[in-house]
Amino acid sequence: MDLVYQRCINPACAATAAVDDTSFVCPKCGGLLDVAYDWDRLTPPRSLTDFEARWSQRHNPLDFSGVWRFRDLLPFARPQHVLTIGEGQTILQQADAVAAHVGLNAGRLFLQYEGMNPSGSFKDNGMTAAFTHARLVGARRAACASTGNTSASLAVFCSASGLMRAIVFIGSGKISYGKLAQALDHGALTVQIAGDFDDAMQRVQEVARKLGIYLVNSINPFRLEGQKTIMYRVLEALRWEPPDWIVVPGGNLGNVSAFGKAFIELADLGLLKRLPRLAVINAAGADTFYQLYERHGLRWNGGSPEAALIQGYYRGLDAERIRASTIASAIEINRPVNLTKALRALDRCGGVVREVTDQEILDAKAKVGAGGLGCEPASAASVAGARKLRREGVIGADERVVCILTGHQLKDPTATVAYHSADQKTFDDVLGHRGVRRATFANRAVQVPNDLEEIMKAIEVYA
Ligand code: F0G
Repeated sequence: MDLVYQRCINPACAATAAVDDTSFVCPKCGGLLDVAYDWDRLTPPRSLTDFEARWSQRHNPLDFSGVWRFRDLLPFARPQHVLTIGEGQTILQQADAVAAHVGLNAGRLFLQYEGMNPSGSFKDNGMTAAFTHARLVGARRAACASTGNTSASLAVFCSASGLMRAIVFIGSGKISYGKLAQALDHGALTVQIAGDFDDAMQRVQEVARKLGIYLVNSINPFRLEGQKTIMYRVLEALRWEPPDWIVVPGGNLGNVSAFGKAFIELADLGLLKRLPRLAVINAAGADTFYQLYERHGLRWNGGSPEAALIQGYYRGLDAERIRASTIASAIEINRPVNLTKALRALDRCGGVVREVTDQEILDAKAKVGAGGLGCEPASAASVAGARKLRREGVIGADERVVCILTGHQLKDPTATVAYHSADQKTFDDVLGHRGVRRATFANRAVQVPNDLEEIMKAIEVYA
């Protein structure tokens, strides 16, 4: 047996593939794969605190990276293969003003700000790992379908490294300007498909298979190895004392799957005594996971979730021509590719799923912004979801909660400006058809004539 290999997530199948296989589907049952390690023959860390020593070595790019500092927990590549652009320099910030909005006591809410990554979203954590694997197998072209952040990250890594050519598939009119700007500026071949993300996701898999292009969507298990490190950094920031809850927006369900794998491995290695609970938050307009998990009772079931339930649900969406639709375009997804892996994560970590409206998302986003961190709409779903769970009493007022802010505010200025706009037409054009009725926490610009006295008067009135 190899030290590192890929293995079907279904324990009843457990078929394996070599570490350098790039098909990213189980060769036997077609299911999802994990990157698996023979920990008995590798050297896992003795204690999580050992990682703190790496800080003093940060002249070494591998130790500077917030992903590769933890390389002993994702040991699939030799150091010389690692491709890093300085990703993962992110912070966990205590956010008392946002805690008040959520209904938590002061000192109990923390925001993990992944918008600080080079391309402005958490995707860089996974992309550095996928790129490292791509270098290992000698890939020359890489592709993804994207709602905008994966494509931005891929474009940045390709342009920064020159290692591969980026090909990105995006749903026509489905991507925010900030993200489209990144794909274009960083030179990615940008293919706009007449369809949405779910269409693009299906096409990119077909094309990657036929043309032998390396796929960097989160169906690629190496990406998720990188995204595990978001949880290592959260734990590190909390001095290795796990929080009670991790709350994360759910789109393609890569993050929650990666977080679950991170915690399961740490527990199995004896490095973590207690696991946090996981809460996944869907937008109400793209709520497949919420519907299946909370309404239809779909469960991991030892690795065999009820396939008929999933297929029946998708058939229903098709029959009624239901398409994902939310202002949180990053998570405007109805067919999450990591569905079964996410079920495993919730199974081991006592998970829950909730859905929040676009109104709740934008109000939460304004609170996050006013509290000092700028995030895009999808990210604020985590805060809106925490608030909902707090109101339901599922989360207690004194529990320690970490919400993941997955992407930067400047990714989607259109949504932000419309929310704060004093102009009703601007508000309606962007938000009206989404069911957003009011901007409860709007900070409106003040219109003044070009006159010194008037300007000073306005300032004295408003500030
Ligand atoms: N938040 C942001 C800002 C995202 O860009 C995404 C996914 C998610 C949350 C959801 O994460 O898929 O792991 O559940 N964006 C993908 C993309 C789909 O193409 O950029 P997930």
